[in-house]
Amino acid sequence: MSQGRIAIVGTGLIGRAWSISFARAGLDVALFDPQDQAAAVALSLVAGNLDDLDKQGLLRGRSPREVLGHIRVAGALADALDGATHVQECAPESLQTKQELYVVLDAAAAPEAILCSSTSALLPSAFTARVTGRHRCLVGHPINPPHLVPAVELVPAPWTSPEVVERTRSLMVSIGQAPVVMRRELDGFVVNRLQGALLQEAFRLVADGIVSAADVDISIKKGLGLRWAFMGPFETIDLNAPGGIVDYIARFENMYRTIAASQERLVPWRGELAQRIDAQRAQVLPRDSLGERQNWRDRRLMALAVHMRKAEEEHGA
Ligand SMILES: NC(=O)c1ccc[n+]([C@@H]2O[C@H](COP(=O)([O-])OP(=O)(O)OC[C@H]3O[C@@H](n4cnc5c(N)ncnc54)[C@H](O)[C@@H]3O)[C@@H](O)[C@H]2O)c1
Repeated sequence: MSQGRIAIVGTGLIGRAWSISFARAGLDVALFDPQDQAAAVALSLVAGNLDDLDKQGLLRGRSPREVLGHIRVAGALADALDGATHVQECAPESLQTKQELYVVLDAAAAPEAILCSSTSALLPSAFTARVTGRHRCLVGHPINPPHLVPAVELVPAPWTSPEVVERTRSLMVSIGQAPVVMRRELDGFVVNRLQGALLQEAFRLVADGIVSAADVDISIKKGLGLRWAFMGPFETIDLNAPGGIVDYIARFENMYRTIAASQERLVPWRGELAQRIDAQRAQVLPRDSLGERQNWRDRRLMALAVHMRKAEEEHGA
């Protein structure tokens, strides 16, 4: 069985974005969705995106036609799974749906195929416990959209075979994604735990009237976020003291410890605080313009992906 046959099961927002990631790396992708015409619609939406990606040099040297040639619509699940070595499941975020689906996938996919879920927050043990071939199931959680944001969190259930994690890691690296390999499952995985820690502080700062929501956003987008686009927090602090990370800790651990003592109190996000932040946001972005602004975000993300690729070529990653 070759490394390169992918079945995407569920072809909504995430499924169709994954198909670009796999197909531009030259892998054959079969799309299956139980909803009538959904896979065909997904394929036409992908086709509509490829020219833009090509103009920005984001198709890994392949033409839109070549990439499209690697993607096909499968009329039945069995057809999509036929010869697949990796199944990227992108069904709705429902525990019951995934519990039922994994039994079906396990029965129908070739024994060597890996069953990888895009779930945002369900633990793999919660929907693979009763699956006979549960050793070949894991989570591969992308950040939307995976063809522009490389990180993907690989989360094993307690029974996932290490070889399955390693094969998935290696597949993701080969298509240009950047795997974050968790050694065991944990609520929120890694990315949402980090984002959650930051959001708790952001809400607390606004709740306590220390700053506006807009100023919280400035501190990230015009401050920390500029470095975070190409370095993580550990590399950031390693470079922020003359003697590296140990020196940084010697200088700043006490300061962060003092801050941490005031960060234990959780403020409720709902209710008055939600209304207050919504009113502040409405002044900069009318509530009926969210869709337009989402398109702007996606264009900025594409421009950033282009810049990141060039900057890595010029300066190293
Ligand atoms: N949207 C995001 O930002 C995001 C980010 C990361 C991960 N995810 C995860 O990816 C998965 C898919 O999310 P989405 O945003 O693409 O949802 P979506 O609603 O856009 O697409 C889901 C697709 O699954 C199909 N479907 C319904 N029942 C199914 C079944 N039993 N088997 C297979 N397919 C079925 C639907 O017809 C639909 O086309 C979810 O688990 C979600 O948590 C989403």
